Amino acid sequence: MSTVLYEVKGNIAILTISREKALNALNSEVLNDLDAALDAVDVNAIRALIITGAGKKSFVAGADIGEMSTLTPEEGEAFGKKGNDVFRKIETFPIPVIAAVNGFALGGGNEICMSCDIRICSDNAIFGQPEAGLGITPGFGGTQRLARIIAPGLAKEIIYSTKNIDAAKAKEVGLVNEVYTQDELLPAAEKLANKIAKNAPIAVRACKKAINEGLDLPMDEAIVLEEKLFGSCFKTHDQIEGMDAFLTKRKEKNFIN
Ligand code: HXC
Repeated sequence: MSTVLYEVKGNIAILTISREKALNALNSEVLNDLDAALDAVDVNAIRALIITGAGKKSFVAGADIGEMSTLTPEEGEAFGKKGNDVFRKIETFPIPVIAAVNGFALGGGNEICMSCDIRICSDNAIFGQPEAGLGITPGFGGTQRLARIIAPGLAKEIIYSTKNIDAAKAKEVGLVNEVYTQDELLPAAEKLANKIAKNAPIAVRACKKAINEGLDLPMDEAIVLEEKLFGSCFKTHDQIEGMDAFLTKRKEKNFIN
C-alpha cells in the first residue's frame, strides 16, 4: 500500500503523506511513492494540488533518521539527490501546489513545503532545520530555499542554531501566507485551490513559469520571458472567453485551457 494517498475533488487534488506512526518522516519508500503520485496527477484535468500530512500532529518530521544513520558519503549524496529530484518536480510542477502544513515541518518537512508555491499552516505548526544537531547539513534544498524565501540572516540563524519557529513567527517572516486552526486548515487549502482552479489554467501555468523561472534571471531577461508567456495566452480559448465575459458583463466563464 502506498504511503501517499491521492484524492481528487473536482478539478483539485490532495496528496497526503501518510506514515503517521513516524510523524510522516520521509524514507525512500515515501519519496518513491510521492514521485509516483506526482506522475499520476492528470495535470490536464487537475488545476491545483494540495500536499499535506496525515494526522493532526505532523506535516513531515524530516527525512527518516533511522534510514540515514548508516549511510556512506556516496549514499548520503544519492539520498539527497533522490529528495531533491522529487522536490524539484513539485517546484516545477505545471500546476500550482499548496502546502497545507498541519504540524511539524522539520528538516525535510520544511524543505518539502518550501518547494510548494504557497504555504499555509495550522496554529500548531513548527518549522525548523534540525540537521546541524544531527551532524549533517540540510540536504533536500533547505540551505538554498530558506535563504531565498525569508531573510538570509534569519535563515542562517535557524539553520546554524537549529532553533525552531512557530506558526505566528512563520507568518511574520513570510514562510507561510496564513495560519488557521487545525480544523480550518484543509478546508482553507481547498478553498484556495478552488479559487485558483476557477481561473484560466493556461494563464495560471504561465504565471507560475514566469515567476519561478524569472526569479533566476536578470531583470532584462525576466521581463522578456514574461512578454513571451503573455503573448502565448492570446488567441487561446480562455483569453477570448475571459475578455468576452468582461466586455459583455457576463459573470460565468467557461475556462478550458
Ligand atoms: C524517523 C522519526 C522522525 C524522523 C519522528 N520520528 N521524527 N523517525 N525520522 N525524522 C518517529 C520517532 O522516532 C517516534 O517513533 C515517532 O516518530 C514519534 O516521535 P516522538 O519523538 O516520540 O514524538 P515527540 O516526542 O512528540 O517529538 C516530535 C518531534 C521529534 C519533535 C518531531 O520526533 C523529533 O525531533 N523528530 C526528529 C526531527 C528531525 O530532526 N528532523 C530532521 C531530520 S534530518 P517511535 O518508534 O519511537 O514511536 C532531515 C534531513 C533532510 O530531515 C535531508 C536529507 C538528505
